[in-house]
Amino acid sequence: MCGIVGYAGTEQAAPILLEGLEKLEYRGYDSAGIAVLSPERGLQVEKAKGRLKVLRDLTKGGGTVEGVLGIGHTRWATHGEPSDVNSHPQLSAGRRIAVVHNGIIENYVEIKEFLSSQGVRFRSETDTEVVAQLLEYYYNECGDAMQAVYRMLDRIEGAYALGILFRDLPGAFIAARKDAPLLLGYGKGYSFIASDVTAIVKHTRDVAYMEDGEVALVTAESIQVFNAMGQPVEKKHSWVDWDVSAAEKGGYAHFMFKEIMEQPEAVRKTVSPRLRNGRVCFDELGLTEEEIRAFSRLFIVACGSSYHVGMVGKYNLERLLRRPVDVMLASEFRYADPLVDEHTLVIVISQSGETLDSMAALRQAKALGARVLAIVNVVGSSIAREADWVLYTWAGPEIAVATTKAYSTQLVLLDMLGLRFAEALGSIPEEEYARIVAELQALPAKLQAVLENTEQIKYLASRYFNHNSIFFIGRNLDYALGLEGSLKLKEISYIHCEAYASGELKHGTISLIEKGTLVVALCCYAPLFDKSVSNIVEVKARGADIVALTTESLAGELGKTAENILSIPDTHVILQPSLGVLPLQIFAYYVALQRGCDIDKPRNLAKSVTVE
Ligand code: F6R
Repeated sequence: MCGIVGYAGTEQAAPILLEGLEKLEYRGYDSAGIAVLSPERGLQVEKAKGRLKVLRDLTKGGGTVEGVLGIGHTRWATHGEPSDVNSHPQLSAGRRIAVVHNGIIENYVEIKEFLSSQGVRFRSETDTEVVAQLLEYYYNECGDAMQAVYRMLDRIEGAYALGILFRDLPGAFIAARKDAPLLLGYGKGYSFIASDVTAIVKHTRDVAYMEDGEVALVTAESIQVFNAMGQPVEKKHSWVDWDVSAAEKGGYAHFMFKEIMEQPEAVRKTVSPRLRNGRVCFDELGLTEEEIRAFSRLFIVACGSSYHVGMVGKYNLERLLRRPVDVMLASEFRYADPLVDEHTLVIVISQSGETLDSMAALRQAKALGARVLAIVNVVGSSIAREADWVLYTWAGPEIAVATTKAYSTQLVLLDMLGLRFAEALGSIPEEEYARIVAELQALPAKLQAVLENTEQIKYLASRYFNHNSIFFIGRNLDYALGLEGSLKLKEISYIHCEAYASGELKHGTISLIEKGTLVVALCCYAPLFDKSVSNIVEVKARGADIVALTTESLAGELGKTAENILSIPDTHVILQPSLGVLPLQIFAYYVALQRGCDIDKPRNLAKSVTVE
């Protein structure tokens, strides 16, 4: 995820900004830049695609950029591929305003169209440039930096942490925040802003956290904060006593856990920009209703966890569309002589966008005449570039090898795609559509509720961490979810795990169940609840220990059969796997922790699998 640091003081700003950005490297980024203001040299901007070293070399360690006031940024691409021109700071056309931004401006297309109609010319593909250009537009009208900022904030929608330099505002920069973290750092004769404390903790531990709607005017001597109405706000200061090395993982021991905890936010970022007036809107897709209706068949192709998203997708999309949906491992698809043609939409799902098997499947599908829609996290990746259409998950960088937030965002995006297609096909009743949209909106809060209640999962992990073999069973969506739960556990804990469709047990696998075998029974899917309970009874009769996962409303009933019950909030059935996966990820995490495994870098695995 992007990182911001800003400095106002008496020392040269550029080296301090570069050093601060280095501390934010752990968040992941694909380009970096700084803007520094000085009375003699005006507004200087340097930025470059690639690692911070490129920017360091470009500026000779910051030495070529003079001034004691500046803002810096590491960018993780969301709108527009990683490139020099898309890097931040973004400049207004008159080069009078520089902006760094974390978050997503949801209505940037509409504002860009408006400004273009006013003769403003854009250089980048970013939503951030819209902020810089809009600021200049208002600044031209009112001639006052703060007023221009307030007018711009009134006009934009979405999430943002902003650092803004005005060429005509010497000695100060402006910060603003809504739904994206930004903090203020206080020193003697200097001030900071930063997206997280790691960037500035070397200089000050005296900080205040900006609240939504607040705007700050930052100078070397003071930081004045105003609320959304422009009234001054007294900030409560906090003292940071974090160990700096822990801070680099946001205070968590492992990236995997950090990324698990980021899921409510990641899902919100994926979902909310694409919901408008109760409808799913994919502005970026450009697929017409006719094109959607012309597909007679959908084919989902992916690897690993992304394939498991496809497994959930098959159940959900067939339910929503009443059209055949196939799902196939990419490594199988490419050699299977698959039955796809120009009436088929192939959906390739990939976090990295670089998985070789998925890439090869994409090319194979295109060669057979199919159209390809990619669901990808890494902007500008190979799969994103070669697909006919791309939907980005906007989950932010995923650093732990085991995927968590990418899985969750892929899942909701596929559900939303299902809704959009169902609307075009007329295959969904209006009330059902509205119910799902309402539950999508409620999803981040429900995810958060699951994450706030992990004590029992931790306890169960401590009880079962030394097992050698664990089975996940479930039916329908619970089976698809079990596949992911089992993969998560095996890849980071090295315990042998298998996921089975509960109804299949009696065809062979039940012979492996013996006294003390742990069976994780997934029972969220209400239509088959009774059958799932019968399967629990069967394995219990062979001596299995049960950990069961169900919904809050079914938990009481399940308690009559199983002992260790974990529950998730009730939601629409198609969204149950989105909630259900969290306890399974957390269980896997704590089991691996107990076993002393290298959680972020499990043995033999790579984050991006670019070999066959
Ligand atoms: C499991 C995991 C892998 C990936 C798979 C596909 O936690 O991360 O199974 O899901 O290698 O990777 P992408 O999604 O990058 O194509």
